[in-house]
Amino acid sequence: MNLGDNVINWTMQTDMTPRESFLAACNQQAVPEIPVWLMRQAGRYMPEYQAIRSKVSFLELCKSPELCCEVTMQPIDILGLDVGIIFSDILLPPEAMGMNLEFTDKGPQLGAPIRDLAAVEALVDFDPVEKTPWPAEAIRLTRPAIGDHRALIGFGGAPFTLASYMVEGKGSRNYENLKKLMFGEPETFHLLMDRITDNLGAYLRVQAEAGADALQIFDSWGGSLSSRDYATFVQPRMKRLIASLKDLGVPIISYVNGCGHLLEFMADSGADVVAIDWRIDAADAIKIVAGRCAIQGNMDPCALLASPEAAARETRKTLQEFAGHKGFIFNLGSGVLKWTPVASAKAVVDTVRAWQG
Ligand code: CP3
Repeated sequence: MNLGDNVINWTMQTDMTPRESFLAACNQQAVPEIPVWLMRQAGRYMPEYQAIRSKVSFLELCKSPELCCEVTMQPIDILGLDVGIIFSDILLPPEAMGMNLEFTDKGPQLGAPIRDLAAVEALVDFDPVEKTPWPAEAIRLTRPAIGDHRALIGFGGAPFTLASYMVEGKGSRNYENLKKLMFGEPETFHLLMDRITDNLGAYLRVQAEAGADALQIFDSWGGSLSSRDYATFVQPRMKRLIASLKDLGVPIISYVNGCGHLLEFMADSGADVVAIDWRIDAADAIKIVAGRCAIQGNMDPCALLASPEAAARETRKTLQEFAGHKGFIFNLGSGVLKWTPVASAKAVVDTVRAWQG
């Protein structure tokens, strides 16, 4: 390499747009500024979101691409974020597979939960262009709104988390029905996981084709499994799902809440980025991932419930621990909570911006 090459490389690095920095970080390249976004960055903690929700139900919102675009842009404008995630919900595919979906005060409810082989067989395969056009349409609207210099992420739920809602019919503490099916009728459970995986592949694909720069797969409940059961029931589907999306050329981010004991699987799944929660130490995560993937995470979202100063302090601690890792994207370890002061979310973003390493 001669001096000229060095100068060109240096120039490209400092001239990166935030979108380029995000994509470079996903590909484990060093970047001039650490990309930052927050899971559930759009939502009820923002008065601007509440104003829209006072007029439409949550499902009406998810099914209005114009409103999804507007809500996606709220945290971009208010917090000054460079990375957006399209507004939607992971439970739209189970509805498209034939289940009745409602959002109530008690959270999401899926009618007639799946408890046996007949119910798994009765599920329908769906064409996302016909049955769930909203996220892709919202991405098409948001792409110009967010601008060429900012990144936009599409997403879906992971097969296990979707299976948990489909079998339990709602959120759950111990996943009794789900695990009863998994241990009692493993073949039925395997079939359910396969059917979800196939439908999810098509659902995610159309989001990338509509212009998403990256795809995140949310496994909010995967951490409830032992390593052995994760290896048997989940890992083959995650590998298959991610492999089926590789030709799209967009980075795949795999998020598992409570992933400490599962990180080796995540790093070996074909994902470009592993998104981790706060329970695992940065040093341990870096050691396990060992240069195979970029890392996204991992601050405790409860740190934002304290003062903006405390949120900024915790942000600096996280940056200190991870900033040396080639390919780091700052985020929380799970979604922004409803009671989060907007000023604390802003303090987090500003602190990442001001970070000089
Ligand atoms: O991150 C973003 O800004 C994009 C939007 C987004 C939502 N849900 C909006 C939403 C994303 C990425 C999700 C993913 C999602 N949905 C997950 C995985 C992520 C996680 O948090 O672990 C899960 C498990 C769901 C299912 C779901 N949807 C639940 C459990 C709830 C109820 C939450 C609650 O506290 O009541 C929802 C509803 C939901 N999804 C809301 C938002 C903003 C709140 C609904 C409202 O406005 O009343």
